[in-house]
Amino acid sequence: MEIESLAAALEREHQEIDAGIEAFTAEPGVREPLARAVRALRRHIYLEEEFLFPALHAAGLMAPVLVMLREHGEMWATLDVLDGEPDADAALTLCRRLAVQLLHHNLKEEKILYPELDRVVPEPQGERLRGFLDSGETPAGWVCLRARK
Ligand SMILES: [Fe+2]
Ligand SMILES: [Fe+2]
Repeated sequence: MEIESLAAALEREHQEIDAGIEAFTAEPGVREPLARAVRALRRHIYLEEEFLFPALHAAGLMAPVLVMLREHGEMWATLDVLDGEPDADAALTLCRRLAVQLLHHNLKEEKILYPELDRVVPEPQGERLRGFLDSGETPAGWVCLRARK
């Protein structure tokens, strides 16, 4: 079986997170898909900021990495409010905003940054990171760079 590229694994995770948010907006009475999407997005941001962006930055992609970090900070603030269990109307409004943020953010990552990953994240590091996507967890208390006080 062909090994999935890191870029493909990350794009799949984008789609899974989008699907969780969509499931909640379609049926706001059921919170579990949203809680799962929020957890998955925090972990996705952790992986990008700790392991992928430093390598991309070092390879010369400073400007797009800085834009992605800023957008992570904006989304992280939205995730914090969602974790505070707002009422359904407020959660729906936040989710619509998050979906738009993700649409623009993910498109840029997939077009500009992810195609460089094979070059800047060599094996076996890529394999370790794909393994993290299967079963890894965000370290307790980790906060994305631009949301740190
Ligand atoms: Fe990102
Ligand atoms: Fe991403």
